[in-house]
Amino acid sequence: MKIIVAGTGYVGLVHAAVCAEFGHEVVAYDNDAPKIEAFASGRADRIAQYIDEPGLSDAIRKVHGRHLFFSTALADIVEGTDAVFLCLPTPPRMDGSTNLSFYDAAVSDIAAQLAGRSDKRRVVLVNKSTVPIGTARRLKTVLQEKGVANAGAASNPEFLAEGTAVPEARKPDRIVIGCDEAADFAILRRIYAKFVHHVQTKYIETTPETAEAIKYVANTMLLTYISFWNGVGAKLGEKFSGINIDDLRIGVTADDRISTWGSFVSNGAGGSCFGKDIASLIYQLKRANVDTKMLEASYEVNEYQKVYMVDRAATEAGFNFSNKAVAVLGLAFKKNTNDMRDASSIKVIESLLGKGVASIRAYDPIANEAAARTFDSSRNVLFEKIGYFDSARAAMEGTDALFISSDCEEFRGLSRTIEETAKPPYLIMDGRRMIPDYNALVGQGFTYLAVGSALMRS
Ligand code: UDX
Repeated sequence: MKIIVAGTGYVGLVHAAVCAEFGHEVVAYDNDAPKIEAFASGRADRIAQYIDEPGLSDAIRKVHGRHLFFSTALADIVEGTDAVFLCLPTPPRMDGSTNLSFYDAAVSDIAAQLAGRSDKRRVVLVNKSTVPIGTARRLKTVLQEKGVANAGAASNPEFLAEGTAVPEARKPDRIVIGCDEAADFAILRRIYAKFVHHVQTKYIETTPETAEAIKYVANTMLLTYISFWNGVGAKLGEKFSGINIDDLRIGVTADDRISTWGSFVSNGAGGSCFGKDIASLIYQLKRANVDTKMLEASYEVNEYQKVYMVDRAATEAGFNFSNKAVAVLGLAFKKNTNDMRDASSIKVIESLLGKGVASIRAYDPIANEAAARTFDSSRNVLFEKIGYFDSARAAMEGTDALFISSDCEEFRGLSRTIEETAKPPYLIMDGRRMIPDYNALVGQGFTYLAVGSALMRS
């Protein structure tokens, strides 16, 4: 099948590469020329500057020029297309609603080109990025208004998680297709032929609105799991002496009905989806006059988690941040990605700066550059206090305290480095419970403050 993937962010680029691996002829389109040039170079380092996703540059190299092509010129690529996947940014507005301006602009450009096609074969426009319930139906009206003949609209939400996006796209747990017309279901069945009768992948055909809602409900449910553990489990461990959060987690999740995923307490869940999607669902439900207490609690617990550890250090450990040097390890929103969107480290660093630290020495195995763009000092002069280092050891050198903000595997072996670079009662704030042998550190006089446990010091 001939496919255009419009928008080459995480979702679009992974989808384009994997559809090309399945043998379709795929053109990845974006109006950002330098970005398209970087992807078309096939060079891992240039691709990673935009998207550092394990396995992605290899996947691109394998199919580029045979099944996968890149373009910035819609007019050259629309002829003969079966499907256009819309993978555009849909950022949140302050009130939680979704800003569809990028999406609308792309739809308008694409519709204008499709209206001028000579072949007039059936083409379906497919919403892959998360868009409010009702957007696919609205898309169909727009296509009609713009005079695009023989065109349909569908919703096909993306469920990939960053860091594992490529293997997940090759073997998804589900494919959800929402449309109204048999001709559009038929096109998408051909594109996803491999999965239509797959033993592991559920292939679900439904209404556009249901498909759109599946994505919102899935993401808000996942965040609610995390918020439940952060809001209830972690607090039990912090406030009731004798409760061990790790044993609590293992005991509770031994029940097959209770997910292990989400039970890892943290200084908040970040990323491009959870916060934005829950805010959007709250907005959509409120407009339908539905009480949203439960979702609001889930959202608020998550936001609170991002900052409360710094406050705990001041109140529980009596640590005075003024003029101190603090190392912050793990800047991206989780391990194995350089994605800084909604990363907890942003709130942590802002909060440390607000408490008057002299400097922040930051380290992430792959997100230092992306973090430097996020903490742009032309936006906030205080960001000049942040320095970036090539290792955890280098970042910790000469600091008074340490904050672990993400779950990079290498942090699990950090205790020896702490012993070698810091002197007790050095404060360790562990936002991810990444130091399994914390008892050894506490025994030597270090101060250990972790999500899910009361303050420990000897
Ligand atoms: C998420 C969904 O998992 C995915 O299905 C959806 O398509 C997009 O949003 P992603 O944002 O890539 O994917 O990250 P995910 O692995 O779900 O983690 C989100 C955040 O929750 C991270 O900050 C992670 O570290 C945190 N997390 C996860 C916890 O704090 N505790 C956990 O137990 C699990």
